[in-house]
Amino acid sequence: MPAVVVIGTQWGDEGKGKVVDLFSEDADYIVRFQGGNNAGHTLVVNNKKYIFHLIPSGILHQGKVCMIGNGVVLDPGVLIEELDRLEKNGQRVTPENLVISEHLHVIMPYHKALDVAREEKKGKGKIGTTGRGIGPCYEDKVARTGIRMNDLLDTEIFIEKLEKNVAEKNFILTKFLEAEPLDTEKIYRTYLEYSERLRPYVGSVSRELSKAFGRGASILFEGAQGTHLDIDHGTYPYVTSSNVVAGNACCGSGIGPTQIDRVIGICKAYTTRVGGGPFVTELSDEIGRHIQQSGGEYGATTGRPRRCGWLDLVVVNNAVRLNGLSWLAVTKLDVLTGIDPLKICTAYRYRGEKLDYFPPQVKILEDCEPVYETLRGWKEPITNVRKFTDLPENAKNYIRRVEELTGTPVKLVSVGPEREQTIVLENPFDE
Ligand code: GDP
Ligand code: IMO
Ligand code: MG
Repeated sequence: MPAVVVIGTQWGDEGKGKVVDLFSEDADYIVRFQGGNNAGHTLVVNNKKYIFHLIPSGILHQGKVCMIGNGVVLDPGVLIEELDRLEKNGQRVTPENLVISEHLHVIMPYHKALDVAREEKKGKGKIGTTGRGIGPCYEDKVARTGIRMNDLLDTEIFIEKLEKNVAEKNFILTKFLEAEPLDTEKIYRTYLEYSERLRPYVGSVSRELSKAFGRGASILFEGAQGTHLDIDHGTYPYVTSSNVVAGNACCGSGIGPTQIDRVIGICKAYTTRVGGGPFVTELSDEIGRHIQQSGGEYGATTGRPRRCGWLDLVVVNNAVRLNGLSWLAVTKLDVLTGIDPLKICTAYRYRGEKLDYFPPQVKILEDCEPVYETLRGWKEPITNVRKFTDLPENAKNYIRRVEELTGTPVKLVSVGPEREQTIVLENPFDE
């Protein structure tokens, strides 16, 4: 049975959570492999809204195993809150349906303090991070000073690492960032409680997945953020601190590239971005505000308004290449209803030259103008449409044009936030 990776093609918030929830029906395992609680994945099931930051979006389905891989950075307090919220909702999460990698890195209070203090110090040039300590935690991972899940479970190792880390971070916080120092003892006590609560869930995601592949299970990898927030391939430094692209599904969970069968890119029918950084098709006019309102474009993690603009296929084509996309899933098509004409960006103009590729350098992007193709819009509401053939002709044309300009088939069209508000043209788990 196939292994399928779902990733965001733009700057995040494309609707990955909704699509992962839908595909989870046919998956046995759902795996997060990078990012942390900077992610906010929204699912709407029977009129009820769920936002997950860490637990994979398959958790609402019975009989599935959800996994948090080694590539994730995990804030234990946030995970425990999610577990408690699910329990209150009558959803029991047990070690049988949630496995946390022993090798993932743990977000500590000093990571959050550093994230916030650094952003403050940057002032105007700030990245606009989520302030969840994501960057500083990945920094410690690469510096080989981080605290991994199995360190947290071993009190001797934990206190030793914690003392060293707090001493160093307090120096930076107080002497360089003019922020308050943190108290080792207080962190120790809180995190000891966390470790006892999470201990039963900790295991080897890589070995469990290997057994699952051996049994012929179907596995779904849930990306977080979007391709253009990737630490290597995104609009650096306005990016997150992990590799977001599909290739990291392997490193971040402990499987090999030959085990992936299909990669699906989620593409919002227009473009949004939260935080700083270049955005060539951004609309600061009435249409931008209309899309923001009718699309409910406010961050699922921080509540910040999302910047909105026309669909940028230079961006999407970059994601097609970087992820080796098999298919696209176009979401939020319903939000474009009533806008006529519609525009799609097909290339950039940079100092008189036409660029048909995405130059990730901020300085170049800031000088790029969008080259648009104009398409006719539609007026008919589409939120109740369930078959592609029932879409208004101009909505079909919009999707077909996306396929033509990306050379990638669109196999899913989402027309509303509910699980049912989806046109599925092909099931990714069909072989
Ligand atoms: P993610 O981070 O990629 O999972 O996306 P978010 O959950 O942050 O943002 C997507 C938002 O759009 C959520 O509020 C979803 O409920 C909503 N959504 C997803 N698909 C659709 C759709 O097709 N139409 C509309 N109107 N809303 C959608
Ligand atoms: P999902 O998974 C949208 C953005 C932040 C900021 C930059 C760096 O819901 O699509 P970080 O806290 O990661 O150091 O912030 O990345 N960002 C996201 N934007 N969706 C997300 O996740 C994001 N995760 C991080 O706004 O610009
Ligand atoms: Mg989101």
